[in-house]
Amino acid sequence: MVKLAVDAVEGEKDLNFLRQRLAQGALGEGGARLDRNTFHRSLESAKVVLAIAREAGSRRRVGFVRLDLARVEAELSLFVEPPHRRRGVARQLISWARRRAGRRILFAHTPRNNTSAQALFTALGFHCQGERLPGFIRWEGSPP
Ligand SMILES: CC(C)(COP(=O)(O)OP(=O)(O)OC[C@H]1O[C@@H](n2cnc3c(N)ncnc32)[C@H](O)[C@@H]1OP(=O)(O)O)[C@@H](O)C(=O)NCCC(=O)NCCS
Repeated sequence: MVKLAVDAVEGEKDLNFLRQRLAQGALGEGGARLDRNTFHRSLESAKVVLAIAREAGSRRRVGFVRLDLARVEAELSLFVEPPHRRRGVARQLISWARRRAGRRILFAHTPRNNTSAQALFTALGFHCQGERLPGFIRWEGSPP
């Protein structure tokens, strides 16, 4: 597993990283059910926390996680830079999100055809709850 630091988003450079990835279609890849405008609004919301994973040595940004804490259940969405996939980045982002979500139930919606995300949530012990929204599978993780 790659050595990473996962930290809350801080400052303009982090925000630019998020904005660029969104503009490049990070979420359009089928990563989340959020549209770009919702995500942009969340950059300013106190109820949404965002964190970035950085490689330990280079501090290069390799992924991000968004956690919506507005309700009793916390919704998670995440993205890992393609060259850095299958090295445990998502695993570490989700572990950060679990800690940050505290006792809330954590859930995510993955597009029906997103097999990578489905494999990820299965591997991390989330429960598949079927298609709750048209085209999206809901995954629920228990509190730590
Ligand atoms: C899904 C995604 C976040 C996975 O990130 P990642 O950093 O590659 O995942 P990890 O390396 O932490 O994988 C952990 C485990 O999940 C499973 N897994 C993850 N991606 C997988 C894939 N493409 N195929 C099969 N299993 C996969 C594996 O069991 C893996 O463990 P292993 O590599 O030891 O076998 C990444 O592919 C991505 O950003 N996709 C586009 C956005 C998206 O789909 N977001 C998630 C929906 S909210």
